[in-house]
Amino acid sequence: MTSAIATPVVGRLEERAPRHADLQRAPRAIPVRRLVFDFTRVASRHWFGGDPFLTHLANAMSLTFPEGERFFMDAVKHYADRIESPALRQEVSRFLGQEALPSRAHEVYNDWLRTTGLRPEGIEERVKEGLDRVRQDRSHRYQLAMTCALEHFTAMMAELLLEGAAIRELMDPEVRRLLVWHAIEETEHKAVAFDVYVETGGSYRTRIVAMLITTLGFTISVAMFQRALMRQDPGARGLGVALRGIGKMWVKPGWFRRLVPAYLDYFRRDFHPWDRAAPEGMEGFKAEIAGDVIRA
Ligand SMILES: [Fe+2]
Ligand SMILES: [Fe+2]
Repeated sequence: MTSAIATPVVGRLEERAPRHADLQRAPRAIPVRRLVFDFTRVASRHWFGGDPFLTHLANAMSLTFPEGERFFMDAVKHYADRIESPALRQEVSRFLGQEALPSRAHEVYNDWLRTTGLRPEGIEERVKEGLDRVRQDRSHRYQLAMTCALEHFTAMMAELLLEGAAIRELMDPEVRRLLVWHAIEETEHKAVAFDVYVETGGSYRTRIVAMLITTLGFTISVAMFQRALMRQDPGARGLGVALRGIGKMWVKPGWFRRLVPAYLDYFRRDFHPWDRAAPEGMEGFKAEIAGDVIRA
């Protein structure tokens, strides 16, 4: 990621007394599913509505997932021993499974990208270098707050996908299957890192500072990676491609614009990820992929 993520400008970040854990609550259902994919079935390299801008935006995000999700797992694992709530302990172990398996599927997807003439190695290296710098330079508390921030982003993207029939219809079926699966699981575990953060004494201030820095770092990084991919693709050149794409995201239909209220929610002092219910039709999506699930 960019230096904006790697070298945040905050000083020492305070911690609070751990919040009293709810020892009685039942764990949420966070099932670990395994699916396999064959991306050689993808009919067009511009699989997202034939639009190179949208396709490379999704590609850029996919390239951040394997390293990013390893980072999330490590950030949460660091605090695992301090969790008192049996429900949250169980959720953490399922969270680790739910981050690991889709992440591996994204690696398969990212390898397939190479066969379409793209050279994503440089991007993967930059993601790894950026996250390694955060691991080195920042506290474990900050790393967990950054994980909470990025999990809020993935939950918002999941909501956009699962509630956006028009978006899903634009996608190639094989990539859509990967993204729908990932979106279901991001929704199911969206509060786990957050609950670990709060239960182990993470403060509001650090959560907000990390969100502000992460917002800048993540959006700038993804935009740079998308631009790099578009430059490698002769079919994605030209200012018109970029302007039309930005228009779709922010103006009409304005998919990213619709996420702004959900994003701002995070800044409320009493925010919790489950203040927003799971997208409608979750059961239908789970049923849709159920037949493809391979039990380990
Ligand atoms: Fe994930
Ligand atoms: Fe996640």
